[in-house]
Amino acid sequence: MTAAISLATQVGTVSLANPIMPASGTFDYHSSPRPPFDIHRLGALVLKSITWNPQKGNPPPRLAETPSGLINSIGIPSPGMERFLGEVLPHYTVLNIPLVASVAGYTPDEYARIAAELNSIAAVTAVELNLSCPNIAYHHMPAQDPALLKECVAAARSETTKPLWAKLSPDVPSVGAMAAAAEASGADACTVINTAQAMMVNIETGRLMIGAGMGGLSGPALLPIALAAVWDVTLHTRIPVIGVGGIRSADDVIAFLMAGASAVQIGTASFYNPSVMVQILQDLNTFMARKHFHSLTEIIGMAHGAEIQEVR
Ligand SMILES: Cc1cc2nc3c(=O)[nH]c(=O)nc-3n(C[C@H](O)[C@H](O)[C@H](O)COP(=O)(O)O)c2cc1C
Repeated sequence: MTAAISLATQVGTVSLANPIMPASGTFDYHSSPRPPFDIHRLGALVLKSITWNPQKGNPPPRLAETPSGLINSIGIPSPGMERFLGEVLPHYTVLNIPLVASVAGYTPDEYARIAAELNSIAAVTAVELNLSCPNIAYHHMPAQDPALLKECVAAARSETTKPLWAKLSPDVPSVGAMAAAAEASGADACTVINTAQAMMVNIETGRLMIGAGMGGLSGPALLPIALAAVWDVTLHTRIPVIGVGGIRSADDVIAFLMAGASAVQIGTASFYNPSVMVQILQDLNTFMARKHFHSLTEIIGMAHGAEIQEVR
């Protein structure tokens, strides 16, 4: 008899049935009449980032396609905390699947206030701090300023006992160094990475293709950059990593796991194929069977060799 294959994984204390989650801001169940696939099969749902105060987001156009990725400058339209709790979250809490709430802020105090509100909500399994949105008007982006990043993570940490995931930017000299700062301030895991700053010019009109000017690049072009960032973070910290950037297939997921990620998030690929995450789950099983793997622990960190697998 062949042993069963398990796709279960751990992100610190968070147990997931499998490593597949939608990336924040790219999966909006509550405003769709019904989900495009059986979302109960995903490891967790990561919700759109919320801000304390309501905000509209950036001027259109907010999206531009490039040959190997999408530029977005959505700017985090948010209903604000009160309406999020009353009108958005209830659509998700009934789903009986681990929920990861994503928090965006302009000051450490805003991260702290939202983290405090979420702390009492049992259905929220973990809190992801979006420290790295390239599309909102920070004075400084926390993920690019180690002192500010530490303040934001520590402020949220002081207000919640929930697992805290720090979402980092690729637009820094060392994502690993920023991850180490997040770890030192109480982050339980790092989500690596957000979009990379990017722009496109429409040569017919001579204008920029994004209303706000700059945007963030996601999709296939981001994958090798994200992999390198995951690798860097595993070398600088001892906390788990959630890999995100350009994933379109089970092969991509496996590359992230082998680089050291314990789980992954998928964004842009869902716009092109809404059921891609479910397809990836099937293909992951096929890969495991073909290679005679039974558990993801055999794969996670494999590309590092034996020594790193011991510390994870
Ligand atoms: C339209 C769009 C909206 C996004 N909104 C958010 C957001 O609200 N919060 C966040 O942390 N990341 C946001 N992101 C970034 C994604 O979560 C993810 O980090 C990035 O897209 C890279 O993954 P991908 O290449 O699989 O899309 C957004 C990305 C896109 C394309």
